[in-house]
Amino acid sequence: MNLRIGSRLWVGLPALAVLLWACGLLVLRDYPGLPTPPGLTLAGQPLLRCVRDITAMITLGALVVGGLLLPTPSMRVLRWAVAWALAWLVASLALVAFTISDVVAVSPWDALASAVWRPFLVDTVVGRVLLGQLVAVPCVLVLAHLASRRRSRSLVWASVLVAAGACAAPALLGHGGITSEHIGMMVSLAVHLVAVSLWVGGLAVCVALLACEPDHARVLLPRFSLLALWCVIVLAESGLLNASLRMGAASLFVGTLYGSLTLAKAALLAWLIRLGWQQRARVVPLAADGPLAARQLARVAGWELLLMGAAIAIGVALSRIGFESVANPDGNINPIAVLVLALALPLLLQRVLPSRSPGRVLAFLRSFPEVAAIILLVVIVEVAGLHLLGSLLGLEAGVIAGALALIAAGWLWAAAIDGPRRLNGTLLMLVGYPIAAIAVMVIAGTTSEWRLVLVCAVIAEAMLAAVLVGRPSRDTDAADDLEPAHA
Ligand code: HEM
Repeated sequence: MNLRIGSRLWVGLPALAVLLWACGLLVLRDYPGLPTPPGLTLAGQPLLRCVRDITAMITLGALVVGGLLLPTPSMRVLRWAVAWALAWLVASLALVAFTISDVVAVSPWDALASAVWRPFLVDTVVGRVLLGQLVAVPCVLVLAHLASRRRSRSLVWASVLVAAGACAAPALLGHGGITSEHIGMMVSLAVHLVAVSLWVGGLAVCVALLACEPDHARVLLPRFSLLALWCVIVLAESGLLNASLRMGAASLFVGTLYGSLTLAKAALLAWLIRLGWQQRARVVPLAADGPLAARQLARVAGWELLLMGAAIAIGVALSRIGFESVANPDGNINPIAVLVLALALPLLLQRVLPSRSPGRVLAFLRSFPEVAAIILLVVIVEVAGLHLLGSLLGLEAGVIAGALALIAAGWLWAAAIDGPRRLNGTLLMLVGYPIAAIAVMVIAGTTSEWRLVLVCAVIAEAMLAAVLVGRPSRDTDAADDLEPAHA
């Protein structure tokens, strides 16, 4: 079993643990008349769900890359698929025990008693979906094994279809009711999960295969790049559709935990699209030189797989939070939304649209980036703490104007530090961001969210530290770090 495949995806586990803690999902809550699941399960169930998702993605990726994208099926990669299908099965079995523990509020060990798991798997919707996966994954394992022995395309297709169905199955575990809206949510999530699994698993396996058989690059890279492009289009559409079916207003996207986590996923996807575009523009053309293309692919994919691990963790946290129809009457802006709108998106915008010929305002701010930093900090406190725009323009218009103000002030700061006095503008943000976050928490009266504020501040500091050690985007293009092609 090649355990190095997609090893960076596992960053999703500690990220998920921190997210669950920050969102208060590891706290045992007593609901009168309802049994409480054990503390171990509160963490164990979502972490196992993340493990199940990653093993499922690598299995599907190995089947598609090794069985369909190569001119002839590769025994090596199909054997990887068999081994990862086994890991998927073990993770699914453990997840069943922890899900029973979570729903029935018994310990995971007691969940193994037949008097508990049999009625759960047969009589409940959640149980039947998990049972479906427990039946499908062994089928994938057997079909992949036979396909690897006989190098048969039709057996590969059969295993890919069953595996894709099993990857989509969690979408059936929707949040309540059989309405057209609910069917829309289920279908869009199912499509989302298959597209994510193909893209993430496919990339991880491509990197591992080309590391040991670089000559496949000539055929594999253009084919996988096209598949990845379609996966990104489909997963963005289906993810946004799913999210908008749950949250019909801008104030819910920026003001609720579920909404702001979805925004964070959209920002991660935007950064992934930028990296994916560099692979397509800079690495795929190198495919004729297998060893070089393999090294370049792995260099950029290292960052892609880290961001994908984080996006998977957020996906699992979303399914754990579940979208309850909450309102956001005060137009609050969640600390995660502030991080995305004030830093993550503007830094990407500055990378994608570096302002090469600045106007007078930007030229002034490049000479005094501290001014841009102060403007951004003031806008953060005003928009997320004081909500003046909301009281002037009304809830939804105020929230949208606030979000745009955060992005604009963030972009102005990112453009201002993209020059000779980068250090000053970044250091001021490093010191000012935590202070602004605490001020917002106190003004908005959201001190109960201190964990989330703390985690967002730590992430912001890490991003600002990366900006500090990085080079101005005007002078660089991330792909510049790549080795020059052999003449
Ligand atoms: C525009 C970007 C995206 C949006 C709007 C989005 C939205 C969503 C939504 C609404 C869910 C359902 C959560 C629930 O069950 O309530 C979901 C699940 C999920 N998403 Fe995304 N997503 C996006 C991008 C991504 C990316 C880039 C990845 C990974 C690379 C990803 C991986 C997942 C996974 C693994 C799940 C299911 C987790 C589970 O239930 O086990 N998503 N996404």
